[in-house]
Amino acid sequence: MESQQKSASFDFIIFGATGDLTTRKLLPALFYRYIDKQISDNTRIIGAARSPLSIEYFRQRAKDALHQFIREPDRTVHHIDKFIKLIYYVSLNGAEAESNWSSLSTLLNDDKQNPIRIFYFATSPKLYGDICDNLSEKKLITDTTRVVLEKPIGTSLETAQEINKRVGKHFPENRIFRIDHYLGKETVQNIIALRFANPVFERLWNSDAIDYIQITAAETVGIGNRGGYYDGAGALRDMVQNHLLQVLCMVAMDPPISLNEEDLRNEKLKVLRSLKPMTPEDVKHDTVRGQYCSGSHNGEKIPSYLEDLKKSHSTTETYVAIKALINTSRWSGVPFYLRTGKRLAEKTSEVVIQFKPSTWSLFPTSPQPNRLHIRIQPDEGVSLSLQVKDPSKSHTSLRNTFIDIDFSPAFHIRYPDAYEGLLMDVVKGDPLLFIRCDEVEAAWRWIEPILNNWSKNNPPLCYYKSGTWGPKEAQELLAKDNHFWHEDMF
Ligand code: BG6
Repeated sequence: MESQQKSASFDFIIFGATGDLTTRKLLPALFYRYIDKQISDNTRIIGAARSPLSIEYFRQRAKDALHQFIREPDRTVHHIDKFIKLIYYVSLNGAEAESNWSSLSTLLNDDKQNPIRIFYFATSPKLYGDICDNLSEKKLITDTTRVVLEKPIGTSLETAQEINKRVGKHFPENRIFRIDHYLGKETVQNIIALRFANPVFERLWNSDAIDYIQITAAETVGIGNRGGYYDGAGALRDMVQNHLLQVLCMVAMDPPISLNEEDLRNEKLKVLRSLKPMTPEDVKHDTVRGQYCSGSHNGEKIPSYLEDLKKSHSTTETYVAIKALINTSRWSGVPFYLRTGKRLAEKTSEVVIQFKPSTWSLFPTSPQPNRLHIRIQPDEGVSLSLQVKDPSKSHTSLRNTFIDIDFSPAFHIRYPDAYEGLLMDVVKGDPLLFIRCDEVEAAWRWIEPILNNWSKNNPPLCYYKSGTWGPKEAQELLAKDNHFWHEDMF
């Protein structure tokens, strides 16, 4: 959904500029678009954070980050040195009206061209409302100013509504960009192409042909140095409320009447609103929450969550599996199994569409049902399992095989990081791949009963060894339906 565009100039102000997201994702993403000549030399990237740093010091940090987080062939000194000159820094607490706002105002008002202004909030969501009030009071919001809100938008429906209300007081909805980087992934966008440009799939994309669907976002990493945030959030808020539900929307939505941002988002919203509400019984039977304990990966010992957190007690989940149902005629009775976890056996995000078996068989053994894998990352691609005649055996013997496409070698392209395209969409003012206010609220409305039930009834936390595929209870969740996580099928 990205188009080659001519180079743009803008002011990009990051609140929370000393945090992980800026160094790992935002600066590298902007750098790549700069070397692709989509960002002009008049652009300014202004870091804002509380630490009293000089511009030189912040530039050096940025340089170090680029050396660390961009691929070696792209680390040319010439490009890095040129890019670094776009970077500025102001020491400012965006949530405080009395902070050093004059240095930001002076810098911004210095440019008489009045370029597009983008405020990126990479801070705790608790601060979004206050920062907006201050931006408004300091008269820093121009007619072309856009605001980007990192997830999670709040920690509950009520806090999300409050954020939407407070940010909405200063910005119209079409200038609020709620980012979910999963929607920036090429392979998540490709779900739309795969479904709606291939009638062979779309005609089978329903409960007549599909048995069940799995959506997995598995990580091998732990919580790193984000324990402070993560322990208060947990996997349900961190991954399911946003990324997994957005992928589910792309898989489950009806065809939008156009690829216009409102039409697409209306269809996603319909999916979120059609999710069967989770009753206390459903939460008990259809959700699993887990936490990693120590284990090993490739022969190396891996610490437990509590060791990573440096605490002796926490009931925060680092793993979630949920069976979700969608109340529409297309999906009636088709379970959508969602799971995500840290310190799992592999880093992989994927969607598995398990088709129904045929009701009769011409062959002595029943053919295995077809299965479509949409690999979101890594090894972006698609594979479809097929039954063929086993060439080494008699004419009645079948063999399971795959049609498998790896996109990167097939198209000879570098798979860009999701943030690259999304940041340029903000510059273009294109909200198609961002979450609308009502979508965020609908997602919280479905998640909240699970959260509330977990905190009220404190169901057992299922421990799993780091480096495995999660707790056995997650396998049992599917086994009850006679289904399996796809890696258990081999
Ligand atoms: C972020 C979560 O939104 O997504 C992190 O806060 C998680 O906890 C990350 O590690 C995963 O993103 P990706 O693109 O590596 O799957």
